[in-house]
Amino acid sequence: MKTRAVVEGVGQYLPERIVPNTWFEEFLDTSDEWIRTRSGIERRHFAAEGETTSSMAVEAARAAIADAGCSIDDIDGILVATSTPDLTFPSVATMVQAELGMNHGFAFDVQAVCAGFIYALTNANALIVSGQAKRLLLIGAETFSRILDWEDRATCVLFGDGAGALVLGAAEGTGTSADRGILASDLRSDGRYRDMLYVDGGVSSTGTVGKVRMRGNALFRQAVEKLTSTAESALAAAGLTDDDIDWIVPHQANIRIIAGTARKLGVPMSRVIVTVQEHGNTSAASIPLALAEGVARGKIRRGDLIVTEAIGGGLAWGAVVLRW
Ligand code: UT7
Repeated sequence: MKTRAVVEGVGQYLPERIVPNTWFEEFLDTSDEWIRTRSGIERRHFAAEGETTSSMAVEAARAAIADAGCSIDDIDGILVATSTPDLTFPSVATMVQAELGMNHGFAFDVQAVCAGFIYALTNANALIVSGQAKRLLLIGAETFSRILDWEDRATCVLFGDGAGALVLGAAEGTGTSADRGILASDLRSDGRYRDMLYVDGGVSSTGTVGKVRMRGNALFRQAVEKLTSTAESALAAAGLTDDDIDWIVPHQANIRIIAGTARKLGVPMSRVIVTVQEHGNTSAASIPLALAEGVARGKIRRGDLIVTEAIGGGLAWGAVVLRW
């Protein structure tokens, strides 16, 4: 027997405002055609004035709790993956905790930029497998629109806002890869690459919030190879191979990175959940949003073997293998 962290519910929230690529043509030297062909993005959602990372996180959390058929009283802790918190502190997670009326347990944020949800999943799994928590609420939520430089066409066309959430609960498994739940994960980072994607402001340096800066092409050249190798490592740790994959649920940064990684893993695109065209890059929110979409579209079903992977600022990257 082995304790497994099993997905019990999933939820999502996207802001109402949908912004098509053509919107950027009005004030930037760019085109719908360039954005579509280089990134796969067609539109993205932007948060309304007054809408924050925590307010979107709360909506996604409520949906996930309802889907799990449990109540906030059944949740032992909240983890929020974000790089765009409402305030420098306290954590978004404690704001969500208060808003959901949860006065017990614990709540904290995880900051690993676009890989944040992979890091949060891995930490949540450790808390459950070690017996420190029985049921956790995991949220990926971002308002990247607040840190975009609207004069930098190389970055501002790529990102979007949103939130996705999972409820993870402890269940007894057999200890084999046939179990439901998180089977293995692989976390990586390499701070030598930190100038490839960063925000040029912060508390202890400039005292400002800053804007996103990216050397997109340099990062692009790292992405496919690193995502493939981390996915292979996580699969090997689970005692599985590429042939066992039912669905790849990738971080949604660029359709060419998504397709390149799938090709290297030998998985056809019909077995990849793609939301980048509708959501753009929502950083730590992209994986839970894609999981929610995969379920809503009737693709991801109970028992399916999922490999989820992400890379972003740090560089930080990683993969999780789980059976739905
Ligand atoms: O989520 C975190 C991880 N993030 C990523 O993984 C992002 C990784 N990078 C990418 O997705 C791609 O590198 C981009 C989509 C950002 C860019 O695609 P690319 O094929 O690497 O293009 P590039 O950066 O090499 O730029 C090609 C050209 C340049 O012009 P020149 O120098 O060739 O004349 C850019 O100035 O495209 C130009 N360009 C644009 N043109 C029109 C850059 N941005 C735009 C734009 N519209 N918005």
